[in-house]
Order: sequence, then structure tokens, then C-alpha cells
Amino acid sequence: MGTERITIFDTTLRDGEQSPGCSMNLDEKLQMARQLEALGVDVIEAGFPVASEGDFAAVQAIARECRKPVIAGLCRAIPKDIERAWEALREAARPRIHTFLATSDIHLAHKLQKTRAEALVMIREGVGLAKSLCPDVEFSAEDATRSDWDYLVEVFTVAIEAGATVLNVPDTVGYTVPDEYGRLIAHLKAKVPGIDGVTISVHCHNDLGLAVANSLAAIAAGARQVECTVNGIGERAGNAALEEVVMALSVRRDAMPFTTGVNQEAIYRTSQTLANITGIEVQPNKAIVGRNAFAHESGIHQHGMLSHRSTYEIMTPESVGVRQTHLVLGKHSGRHALAKRFEELGYPLGRTELDKAYKLFTKLSDQKKEIFDEDLLAIVRDGLTHIPETFKLRALQATAGTSMFATALVTLASDGGEATETAMGDGPVNAVFAAVDKLTGLKGRLLDFRIHAITGGADAVGEVFVQVEFDGVTQGGKGASTDIVEASVRAYLNATNKVLFARRASVPAAAETR
Ligand code: KIV
Ligand code: ZN
Repeated sequence: MGTERITIFDTTLRDGEQSPGCSMNLDEKLQMARQLEALGVDVIEAGFPVASEGDFAAVQAIARECRKPVIAGLCRAIPKDIERAWEALREAARPRIHTFLATSDIHLAHKLQKTRAEALVMIREGVGLAKSLCPDVEFSAEDATRSDWDYLVEVFTVAIEAGATVLNVPDTVGYTVPDEYGRLIAHLKAKVPGIDGVTISVHCHNDLGLAVANSLAAIAAGARQVECTVNGIGERAGNAALEEVVMALSVRRDAMPFTTGVNQEAIYRTSQTLANITGIEVQPNKAIVGRNAFAHESGIHQHGMLSHRSTYEIMTPESVGVRQTHLVLGKHSGRHALAKRFEELGYPLGRTELDKAYKLFTKLSDQKKEIFDEDLLAIVRDGLTHIPETFKLRALQATAGTSMFATALVTLASDGGEATETAMGDGPVNAVFAAVDKLTGLKGRLLDFRIHAITGGADAVGEVFVQVEFDGVTQGGKGASTDIVEASVRAYLNATNKVLFARRASVPAAAETR
């Protein structure tokens, strides 16, 4: 049986980024886009250019840098959105305008206040305008699964006539079920004139936990593009998880004869890259990329695994790039060993980066006997970012207890020299943040604070993620240390420095609060 190729359309940077806590700044989006390119996705939906200056800049930067995949930018089917999307995409090697309009009666009446006939005119004009700018045009009928099927036939007929090359049938609210969705795709395939000359795409949300199952049912019925996100992040319960769709197709090729261009061994690293950027950890039992996805706890299972892996393993951890955590380096390892290990982990470092990484490594090995891969990855993530450190942490003291206010003393260095401030707070973290605010002159409002241990044991490195709002701009920051108060202040300073850098460079800082 021949195998057909499924196009993997990644929308982590658009639909995924819209979910709470997942906003990324320009550097972070670029880092993620590079990783998606290395993963081998066919299409990267890089953002919604009209939504904010930050989205526009990110789509433009990704279009300039990532030359292999198609780069898509989302826009409503209205001229100003479409023109803005094209402006951001025009330098891409392979640009795609992705335009959409809602087609369900619920959305037409309550959101757009349009009749079905008016919507058809908007679709014809919108897709036509997009086509006059860009040869590759995708049209999405938002809330397709709650739209009238015969009206959808009209909608997609108009979209093809106006020049659409990809037709997307989104399950916007995660409402459909596999059998029904498959029948809808088959109905469109049978009824829309010219549909065989375009690609049918699916885009499923996970409100009922069916996003991946629905996507696979749609493929069986004739869809050839799947829209999905890394770790399944996205609006509400998220989108179909890329890694699950790809691995289901790979492991069950006997039942579903399709291939993708995804480099499976890069799946785990991509998942980790996203989790590290956003600070949204993957749930431990998440399929494919969760910490426990390949853990065998019960005695019976362990016994089976020891006899033969296939007793309880349908794919190997190595096939998705999961390696066993192992001790890699110690205090006496040299620069050469460090460079080699970074290279094996997928981070070939230049001389300056290696110098910096080595310094951080020796500092860490004074605090911690054993250094694991995860520690090295934390060094790359937190120590080698290119945000200039306007303020650097020089010293920190914090005291706390059950019968006293927490107090903190923080010394920061900047171009103006060193300065020290003290502050009090409900707890030590609160107190150090207040002292930092006094020193930087910025007033941050902490929106989110998360901490996790990178490796096990009492001397584990703790990694802290914060989201802080400075004057209406939300900025994420992260920091790592074996001391959690220090990790917290580093994360807070990282967010502060990012905001200051963005202000100076007058680039859109980050996620502006939408
Ligand atoms: O869920 C949805 O309908 C979307 C479209 C804009 C494609 O994200
Ligand atoms: Zn969506």
C-alpha cells in the first residue's frame, strides 16, 4: 500500500501562544521557530500580524529567517488585516496568507452580525485580495463544525473560486466527534466543485479531549493537512498535539498509511524548548512527551520490560528523542568535554558562548556534585540568552520566619555602579522583588510565579518562571539556581532586563496584554 504525505501545519506560535501563560517575546518566538524548522514541520503559523506590533514583528522576523517551511500569517477576511499580514510575510521564501471568517449561524448572528449572503461576499473579496498578493492562500471557515453543511459547501466553493489553495475546516470549540467529523470532510469532498485541486486541512480544539482522534478521522476521510501545536497548547483545553498526531501516524502506519516530514527524534527537544520558554510544564502523564510516558512503575510491567521491551512498549523513548537522564560531567570536567556534551545535546556553542557556559558550569559544580543534561540545558537557556543585563545581581540576603516579616537586602550592578536596597514583604521572594523594584525604578506586578526542580535530590537546581506586568506590558522571565530565592530574583531581573531592552531598542517587548 502506498503512503500519502500529511502536511504538518504548526500553530504553536499563533493559536498556542494565545493561551494563558504562553505568550512569548520576539527572541523566544524566533528560538521556537528555529526549533520547529529543525523538527521538520511543513508550515509554521508565526502569528496574527494585525493583533499587535509584537505579533507583526515576530511574523516578519520568522519570515526572514526560517527559509525552509511555509510561513503563514493569520488575518480576518477584511482588507486591513490581509494587507497587514502580507506586509509581515512578504519577505518569506514561501509565504502563506491564512484568512478566516466564521460561518456558523451562532457566530454570524452574535459575533459578526452578518447574514450568510454577506459572509459569502466577504469571503470572495477577502480571499480574492489575499490571492492578488500571495499565491498560497488558506481559507478557514471558523466554527465549521457547528455550521450548516450545505452552507459550508457554498462557502468553500466561493473560497476556491476566489483562489484559495488550502481549505481549513476548524472545530473551533472542540465540539465534534470523530465519526461526525469524518463524515463532514467526506461530504465536502463529494460536494465542493474543484476540491480535489486544493488541500483539505483540519484544525481541532481539545475541549472534549478528542482533538487528536478527530484529526485522525479527518485524515481517513480525505484531509491532508493537520493543524496542531507542540504539547497541545492552545485556546482553552488546547489544540491537537503535534507529537501525538505524528506518532500515531508513525506507530500505526499499518492502520493509517500516511507519512509526515517530521524528524521524530527532535520531538522531545521541541517539547522541552517550548516548556522552557513558556514555563508551562508538560503534564507528567502526557502522551509521548510527559515525564512518565516511558516510565514503567508496576512490578509486572517492569518484569515484562526486562524480558522483552515490546511487552509494554509500542515505541521506544529514543524514537522521539527521550534519553535516559545520566550523569554527564563533574567538577573536574574540562572545557572540551563540556563543549562536546553541548554539541551532543544539539547546542554547538561558539567560543564566547562556551566561555560563558564554562564559567556558569564551574560555578554550578561548586554548588552541586553531579551535573546532569538538564542542568546543562538550564545553563544554555538561562545563562546564554542575549538580553543585555542592564541590572546584574551582585549580592542577596533574605531572612524569613514564622514570627517575623521577611526582609531582603539586594545589591545590583549597572552602568551607574553598584547600589543596595532593603525591603520587607510577606515572604522572602516578595521582599527581594520589592528591593529590586526600588533599585531599578520600575514597578512590577507579579502575575504568575512557578518553580520546579530541574534535577532530583536536595541539591537540585530550582528553576523559576515569572510573568510580570510593567506599565501594561506583560513580560516573562526565568532564572535558575540551587537557591530558590536567588532563582526567583534572577527570574524577576530577567523580566526587568527584557522590558528595559525592549524599551531602549523600541522593539515590541513581548506579549502586550491583548
Ligand atoms: O479555532 C479556530 O477556528 C482558529 C481559526 C482562526 C483557524 O484558530
Ligand atoms: Zn484554533
